[in-house]
Amino acid sequence: MLTVTNVDKFYGGVKAVENVSLEVNKGKIIGLIGTNGAGKTTLFNVISGFDKLDRGSVNFDGQEISNLLPSKIANLGMIRTFQTATGFPRLTVLENLLVFSENNNFEFYKNFLNKNEQNKEQIEKAENLLKKFGLFEKKNQWVVDLSAPELKILEFARAIMGNPQIMLLDEPAAGVNPALLEQLMEIIQELNGEGITFLIVDHNLRFICDISDFIYVMNDGKLIAQGKPDEIVNNELVIETYIGK
Ligand SMILES: Nc1ncnc2c1ncn2[C@@H]1O[C@H](COP(=O)(O)OP(=O)(O)OP(=O)(O)O)[C@@H](O)[C@H]1O
Ligand SMILES: [Mg+2]
Repeated sequence: MLTVTNVDKFYGGVKAVENVSLEVNKGKIIGLIGTNGAGKTTLFNVISGFDKLDRGSVNFDGQEISNLLPSKIANLGMIRTFQTATGFPRLTVLENLLVFSENNNFEFYKNFLNKNEQNKEQIEKAENLLKKFGLFEKKNQWVVDLSAPELKILEFARAIMGNPQIMLLDEPAAGVNPALLEQLMEIIQELNGEGITFLIVDHNLRFICDISDFIYVMNDGKLIAQGKPDEIVNNELVIETYIGK
């Protein structure tokens, strides 16, 4: 479904991503780990069109996408979340979800704010997602009043409004408490069961190992290992990189 081939992204002398190739097969949950500054977010930016790559290619569902705008890539069914979630602070929780609807032009959005009959279906979808993510009680609160973990959850929920085929999640578990993390895992697994493919970056090794079918490891811009979770936690180079010799 997603094939990244020999991708480079340099910022001046910083080789943020160097000769990285990876594959995400349809229906799978793939983990991407690596120490701080390894290049994980840069790789996400390049895949999702937020940054231009210097070399290589990104192919999604048979189409080269490395020259496309992020909005176009999102419309093709690839939706990413951000490491630092902000949401739209001056809209309510519910409105934040409605912004990312199937038909998100401005007129349509204004209609949402009028909450007319026609948009009932989308509002129902958004409310059901808020229930699933435990944010329903806060649906009329301003997003500026949410906590950082709530913002992360909200961003994840909003991304689902766009009917993704594949989701790229950048540290969905960061700052999330253990109970909520458990819930987050169940939601990811449920969505995966419904056919959504995932590429997930996170620092929580247990979470990544529990949820992933396959894991890629980056360090210093390069891929240093790949394999099933049990292979990764026993990989000497990975252990050395994470906790030292
Ligand atoms: N826009 C930019 N301009 C210059 N350097 C950048 C830019 N974005 C990232 N970098 C550098 O590229 C390298 C990779 O950063 P990146 O954010 O991709 O790492 P990461 O693996 O996501 O780290 P973390 O786990 O801390 O989120 C770092 O050295 C970073 O400082
Ligand atoms: Mg990052």
